[in-house]
Amino acid sequence: MMTRRPRRNRQSAAIRGMATETHLHPQHLIFPLFVLDGSNLRSEIRSLPGIYRFSPDTLLHEIEECMNLGLTNFILFPAVADHLKDTTATYSYLSENFYLQVARDIKSRFPECCLISDVAMDPYSSDGHDGLVRNGEILNDETLPILAKMSVAQADAGFDMLGPSDMMDGRIGHIRQALDEHGFTKTGILAYTAKYASAMYGPFRDALDSAPKSGDKKTYQMNPANQREALIEAELDTAEGADMLMVKPALHYLDVIHLLKENSDLPIAAYHVSGECAMLRAACNNGWLDFERAMPEVLLSIRRAGADVILTYFAKEFAGRYRGGV
Ligand code: PBG
Repeated sequence: MMTRRPRRNRQSAAIRGMATETHLHPQHLIFPLFVLDGSNLRSEIRSLPGIYRFSPDTLLHEIEECMNLGLTNFILFPAVADHLKDTTATYSYLSENFYLQVARDIKSRFPECCLISDVAMDPYSSDGHDGLVRNGEILNDETLPILAKMSVAQADAGFDMLGPSDMMDGRIGHIRQALDEHGFTKTGILAYTAKYASAMYGPFRDALDSAPKSGDKKTYQMNPANQREALIEAELDTAEGADMLMVKPALHYLDVIHLLKENSDLPIAAYHVSGECAMLRAACNNGWLDFERAMPEVLLSIRRAGADVILTYFAKEFAGRYRGGV
């Protein structure tokens, strides 16, 4: 005789509803948005169908649509014209640059949203690296003051949280100190804690034209073979003042998300990166997978692994379908 029958808890939608362990709501999502200078522009990213680069005017419209769907969190990436890029990323902290300008516009129009920045040199660097390059080497300590200047300029523009994605050692503490010295004690830091040297960033680099001009990012981004090393990064970022810890990419690193969740009391974020979204989109556009079923399943898996927050290019589509959550 079978006394234990797990299927009893799966027999109706009502019972399955009670037995559901993991929920996902639009409030848990962060929507990455690409912005470029100009007006009335909305250009689709070839390798990420359904995702666009917006000029500031069309971006405001996009954010309004998202807010109406209950999506309140956005992370903004700038697509900078080549002639504005240099070796020291000077454009990144010019207070009149279009990225800081649009942040001011967004926060004055939608003060209730959470607007997150990207802190790294690559969108502004003629070398396409996240840090300062000298004789082919990515310099750590010389990069920190540039990141600090960029961070203070972003806090001044009104970003609620900053997202250092550069993986230089000591940057969280350096940025926290610079922010506090300038009175930006309320500006948070979403640290890219365990960011791997992954092949999954391809469509993102297409979107920003930000691929490294030489070499790769393996001397600063983490080795995909390593899990425990993420604990060292988490310990440092926490001690240096991070408000949330991120794992990136998400799907191929669910074990790392779980590990950080088990070992930290800070909220854990996971970045479902461009290549991971592109894989699913491509399979669905070919008719090989059903987007309606696969998309929520994929996002739930990231959440089940332990992510409190998920950055995903599917955020708007999720909110459009599941305003009340799944
Ligand atoms: C770089 C940065 C990258 C992403 C976010 N910030 C790419 C890289 O490290 O080359 C990738 C995000 C994605 O692929 O969606 N500062």
